Amino acid sequence: MLFERVVRPTLFRLKGGDAEAAHEFAVRRLAGLARMPAALAVLRARYGVSAPRTVFGLRFPNPVGLAAGMDKDGLALPAWPALGFGFVEVGTVTAHPQPGNPRPRLFRLPDSGAVVNRMGFNNAGAGALAARLAALPRPLGVPLGISLGKSRITPLEEAVEDYQASYRALREYGDYFAVNVSSPNTPGLRELQDRAHLDALLAALVGEKPILVKIAPDLPEPAIAELLEVCLARGVAGVIATNTTLARDGLAPADQAGGAEAGGLSGRPLADRAREVVAFVHRETDGRLPIVGVGGIVTPDDAGRMFDAGASLVQLYTGFVYRGPALVRAAAAAARTP
Ligand code: FNR
Repeated sequence: MLFERVVRPTLFRLKGGDAEAAHEFAVRRLAGLARMPAALAVLRARYGVSAPRTVFGLRFPNPVGLAAGMDKDGLALPAWPALGFGFVEVGTVTAHPQPGNPRPRLFRLPDSGAVVNRMGFNNAGAGALAARLAALPRPLGVPLGISLGKSRITPLEEAVEDYQASYRALREYGDYFAVNVSSPNTPGLRELQDRAHLDALLAALVGEKPILVKIAPDLPEPAIAELLEVCLARGVAGVIATNTTLARDGLAPADQAGGAEAGGLSGRPLADRAREVVAFVHRETDGRLPIVGVGGIVTPDDAGRMFDAGASLVQLYTGFVYRGPALVRAAAAAARTP
């Protein structure tokens, strides 16, 4: 496998193993490829997968998407469908451009198939993303999701206006919008999952485009049930479950040091909990609310189990870092007929 034998080892050795440098390098290279139609066609022939389904009114060529955070500023957009992804979620972007937390802020835990990050929504801002999307050759060929978060400088009481500013700037470019109220790396953000905050936020956003709410795996079930009531009452299009976790269960001994870093854990140790949350949401809503299952999908079987738990679509982040595009194709093949 070209990715696991050549691409990954090269990336993981870059700059003494600096994980964020490898990430930036990879996205830059993909951004370069994205400007070369012939290269995209070669990738598409190798990795493209057709397993179409329609969810919340959008047609997906296959149900495996790129999770938020990989291409926050939409730098390499046309490359992702060519690598086999059936949809792409850019962001999280914020109304104000912001640098995120000081580096280092991204840590690989290879023995655990995991990553810890405390990026803190580093992004060029909603306005810059809007300008980039306006200049993009159309069509992308897959649905585009845009993840919105709160700017760090904006106090929690002004969160609604902050999300709304991003939404207005980007509304015409996104096929759906993800309301990110579950990153552990912006102080206070997860409080927006509470009934009153979430209700006000959704009242301001639900309307024209499908709105999805992305939730944390660390919420206890009664809190998820309450959140779902608000989501159903406000007419959201779906739920994305889950974001990274503050828990540190299931780490290999060699990864204890990386695991001690502050931030959100993703990858294999998150799989069981993320799937549990998906199953709970499915049960609690009697399957009425489409679910995007994300968290710890590192093998095709993980994807199959996520669909079985009730997900209509899935997303990959950490599994893609370790396994590359072969996982996208295999995960799509694991999708059962809904
Ligand atoms: C993320 N994730 C994320 N989620 C989100 O909604 N907005 C974001 O900006 C980011 N940023 C981000 C950066 C990094 C480095 C990682 C590893 C993750 C969370 C991501 O979308 C996903 O929900 C989790 O990583 C769980 O999926 P995996 O990684 O286990 O497949």
